[in-house]
Amino acid sequence: MPALVLLGAQWGDEGKGKATDLLGGSVDYVVRYQGGNNAGHTVVVGDQKYALHLLPSGILSPGCTPVIGNGVVVDPSVLLSELSGLNERGVDTSKLLLSGNAHIITPYNVTVDKVTERFLGKRKIGTTGRGIGPTYADKINRVGIRVQDLYDESILTQKVEAALDVKNQILTKLYNRRAIAVDQVVEELLGYADKLAPYVADTVLVINQALEEDKVVLFEGGQGTLLDIDHGTYPFVTSSNPTAGGACTGAGVGPTKISRVIGILKAYTTRVGAGPFPTELFDEDGEALRRIGGERGVTTGRDRRCGWFDAVIARYATRVNGLTDFFLTKLDVLTGWEQIPVCVAYEIDGKRVEELPYSQTDFHHAKPVYEMLPGWNEDISKAKSFADLPKNAQSYVKALEEMSGAPISAIGVGPGRDETIEIKSFL
Ligand code: GDP
Ligand code: IMO
Ligand code: MG
Repeated sequence: MPALVLLGAQWGDEGKGKATDLLGGSVDYVVRYQGGNNAGHTVVVGDQKYALHLLPSGILSPGCTPVIGNGVVVDPSVLLSELSGLNERGVDTSKLLLSGNAHIITPYNVTVDKVTERFLGKRKIGTTGRGIGPTYADKINRVGIRVQDLYDESILTQKVEAALDVKNQILTKLYNRRAIAVDQVVEELLGYADKLAPYVADTVLVINQALEEDKVVLFEGGQGTLLDIDHGTYPFVTSSNPTAGGACTGAGVGPTKISRVIGILKAYTTRVGAGPFPTELFDEDGEALRRIGGERGVTTGRDRRCGWFDAVIARYATRVNGLTDFFLTKLDVLTGWEQIPVCVAYEIDGKRVEELPYSQTDFHHAKPVYEMLPGWNEDISKAKSFADLPKNAQSYVKALEEMSGAPISAIGVGPGRDETIEIKSFL
């Protein structure tokens, strides 16, 4: 019953897509358990590059069944266009399973996301504008629309009416926008029903039966630990639980079923959108990381904020997720620095702090305490084993492992599937 969770250990964009795709060939199911098309997962297969937003990265492995779990929020138009885009490129998507309990991102929730951000002005979160937050808010407020509602027009109409009753008051009276007509929304949503019908399934049952049959199931997180609504840098977070517990609620599996939790960890740090980021660089080193690492958002095209590796964050990720392993990505990007600073602790109001402070105020005041590690100049992109790495690169990995609190079982040395050093098998 091997069930693996693969999740982001930092602020997203750690290389989860590549890692999932790499394992996709050996697993039976890949399940997305939270988030939506705010995610942007890049997978490079040979000379082909895929940007996946909603579909699990396992969709590119022919033997693997991709599943969109109940905890995901689904924009039907995005899902259908992502599917047809892949079909045009010769990818078979017919195995996809979509939970009937997943919530739908309605057009009015995309509008609410955008106007709320505009209204917040300089206090904005810097969301992806995809309607994620408002859709999860509706879910918690019990006025959400679920995939299964598309198959009962009367229920769908009642639910859209209930949601728009309040939303239209807010849109017209607070945000000075036009009201949204119930009929129009219902008509649009009903238009997706037949197209989505072949995929809709009781995914909780399917996943649990697969585990009972000893199939290998991989749960693929979107976003990252520090973007978690409970454990991240609130309020500068997304509206779901990318952390390991989210896999249980977002897919309907008990915690006793999870055998391994893999944290995807970038060899430096990036963040998109607003919020604190102690190791952020505003100099030519930050610019170099952005350029060499290609740090531009897959979803919104925004430049990612870049900084040095932060071991305080990595330790925190190990703890809140119960990580069993790390997959260290983008080590190749660090080639060429004479010395590489690594943040080992923070200084907050004159005191050295080893662990992530729970207080938002303290975190905003945290200054990184750096240790300098020697760099390397050799091209490492062809390295196939740990021993192939230059000595200083080996030491960098070992130092990160020691500081982060879980073994590094794989190392990414390039974006391609084969540009990976496997130290210990994940399966
Ligand atoms: P995700 O959101 O966690 O799936 O990550 P993204 O796809 O948004 O961003 C990661 C980027 O790094 C993508 O462009 C990947 O192709 C690329 N990438 C992943 N692993 C490596 C690696 O080990 N080395 C390099 N150079 N690029 C990598
Ligand atoms: P992947 O899966 C990086 C960030 C947004 C914003 C905050 C809230 O590719 O790692 P939202 O639209 O979710 O309400 O925005 O979260 N964010 C991400 N940052 N990678 C992502 O996904 C992200 N998904 C959301 O930039 O700061
Ligand atoms: Mg991404």
